[in-house]
Amino acid sequence: MEFSEVVSTRRSIRAYTDQDVDAATVERVLRAAMSAPSAGNQQPWHFVVIRDRQRREAIPAIHPYARMVLQAPVAILVCGDPEGRKYPQYWQQDCSAATQNLLLAARAEGLGTVWCGVYPNEERVAGFRRLLTIPAHILPFALVPLGWPATPFKSEDRYNALAVHEETW
Ligand SMILES: Cc1cc2nc3c(=O)[nH]c(=O)nc-3n(C[C@H](O)[C@H](O)[C@H](O)COP(=O)(O)O)c2cc1C
Repeated sequence: MEFSEVVSTRRSIRAYTDQDVDAATVERVLRAAMSAPSAGNQQPWHFVVIRDRQRREAIPAIHPYARMVLQAPVAILVCGDPEGRKYPQYWQQDCSAATQNLLLAARAEGLGTVWCGVYPNEERVAGFRRLLTIPAHILPFALVPLGWPATPFKSEDRYNALAVHEETW
């Protein structure tokens, strides 16, 4: 698939079939996530791969806008690990780049995702720490359900000439 098609048809997918996603595919999308740029190449990220149904069923109580994890066979929690880094204040940007790479790689595989924001919502951060026994210095950042889409990937062109400024504002 052409890169432009991957980008223009990446949509938030909120309905999934019950088909599983195999471990090799999950590893490929995580490899793409970890190929992202990061400040000083510090790669301040970790990924918790959640498959267990009971664990997924506990998620809507923590994150009310992530109910699609009940359908998606896999959910990936992207976490930040800024402690002791040279550029710790860039961790959110680093994790955002990794998350977007993950979404695009999944789309190229024909898989659906949706970026569910966790950080900086304190209740969600605490809830995921508790649910997944995440150490106190690690910051749950975004939850990404991953599965085969039950709805189509619709192409959208969001180019907005008014948002583009040549040379100066
Ligand atoms: C930081 C961030 C947080 C988001 N949180 C949620 C969320 O909690 N639940 C959800 O269903 N979608 C969430 N989204 C997805 C957006 O609603 C979606 O990207 C936007 O409406 C554009 O649609 P598209 O992804 O199909 O292009 C989030 C997206 C971002 C970037």
